[in-house]
Amino acid sequence: MAQTMKRDYSLASAAEREAIAAGLAEAEWYQSPIDPDRLRELTTRSNGRAALHVGLYVTLLVGSGVWAYLSLWSWWTIPALFVYGTLYGSSADPRWHECGHGTAFRTPWLNDLVYYPASFMLLRDATLWRWSHVRHHSDTIVVARDPEIILARPPEAGDWFPNLFNLKNGPQAMARTVRHALGRISEADRSFVPEREHHKIVREGRIYVALWVALIVWCLVSWSLIPLLFFVGPSFYGAWLVLIFGTTQHLGLREDVLDHRLNTRTVYMNPVFRFLYWNMNYHVEHHMFPTVPTHNLRALHDEIKDDLPEPSPSIIAAYRELVPALIRQHRDPTYELDRVVPGPAVTVADAGGTGVEVRLAPGPERDGFVDVCAVADLDDGDVRRLDLGDATFAVYRLGDRYLATDGICTHSRRIHLAGGIVIDGQIECPKHNGRFDIESGSPTRDPVCVALNTHEIRVVGDRVTMRVPAAGDS
Ligand code: FES
Repeated sequence: MAQTMKRDYSLASAAEREAIAAGLAEAEWYQSPIDPDRLRELTTRSNGRAALHVGLYVTLLVGSGVWAYLSLWSWWTIPALFVYGTLYGSSADPRWHECGHGTAFRTPWLNDLVYYPASFMLLRDATLWRWSHVRHHSDTIVVARDPEIILARPPEAGDWFPNLFNLKNGPQAMARTVRHALGRISEADRSFVPEREHHKIVREGRIYVALWVALIVWCLVSWSLIPLLFFVGPSFYGAWLVLIFGTTQHLGLREDVLDHRLNTRTVYMNPVFRFLYWNMNYHVEHHMFPTVPTHNLRALHDEIKDDLPEPSPSIIAAYRELVPALIRQHRDPTYELDRVVPGPAVTVADAGGTGVEVRLAPGPERDGFVDVCAVADLDDGDVRRLDLGDATFAVYRLGDRYLATDGICTHSRRIHLAGGIVIDGQIECPKHNGRFDIESGSPTRDPVCVALNTHEIRVVGDRVTMRVPAAGDS
């Protein structure tokens, strides 16, 4: 008999405790096998490429805005505002997303330069949503853990259709921001944002509220709603496309699994959609390897597609699959679309591995130093895994320097950094793009905040050796 009871999706709840007890929180996820050197190539960031893309987006946004303003109140106003609003309220989302991951530009502050204005355009508190997205990547579509599940089961049309114009989510987001401005942060939000970040949420809430008040004053002073047509208004009337695209990402597929091939959908799209969505249609690939910038997702897809389920051939095909599934889930919330994957699917905790680490086989120990590898085994920018008994390390080459740190990222304490990438003297974690300075072990990018231990490396002849830490050092 169909189950009709609604599951509890709330964070900081008994349902969340159940998910944790089931091993679904911060678990290891399946990753498709890929040559580590090829993966490293694909993770390359480019300021030029990102600037070209974002520059084109901003040109179209401003251009359509000017067109809309100059055409006020002719018939041209409608198509002009349609284009402007869509670029503002929908296409800001993938730019926000990519820059939030820090993978668009190579230079971190350039990512922030896009991320913060885009957050405001999308009515998202910048810091809160940064952490919300970290959780979304840790626990994708795990009920009561993932704050970004867009439709709970059983799905209701009334929860989806109004959001074509952000009519449900928009006011809720604004009310949440106002609460933050008043210094009130809910238990659910506290469950994924660390306390040290709470002051930022309050400060950003106050900035947003001040900007909204300024906009209202502008409307009153000019005795016109035109400012609202161009700011904040498009967060509503332009939100339709982000919902159309976002709906294809996970809906209809499985909940509570640890394999993105089962809960995430890749959809082939035409070049215009791929520009508007900035290649986020390769969504399985993005979730599996979030260190790969969006401009390389298509190439990543080519590398691993044999290990993935068949992608939806078009957005129409995706809706043809997911709409009947949602209708069926409305009657039977336990119904889920099945995916055929090569090899065993990963559905329980700890069944996955990273699949992209290169491991070193340690040699003999002498005078407190263990033989790690030959100098020639490490190329500039390489990171390799080294296991010594129960302890695990990451060994790096930066130019002519050889360095070592603890192997496990201090954020979730589950992910090995040898699956990450070396960028500007830092190691970027493959799970949430957190970074550490390799030389000092210090955290350099959220969400990591606890330093790694570093370990002494000596090059003896053509061999790299590492001091064996005393028991309990790592
Ligand atoms: S596990 Fe989250 S940044 Fe490393």
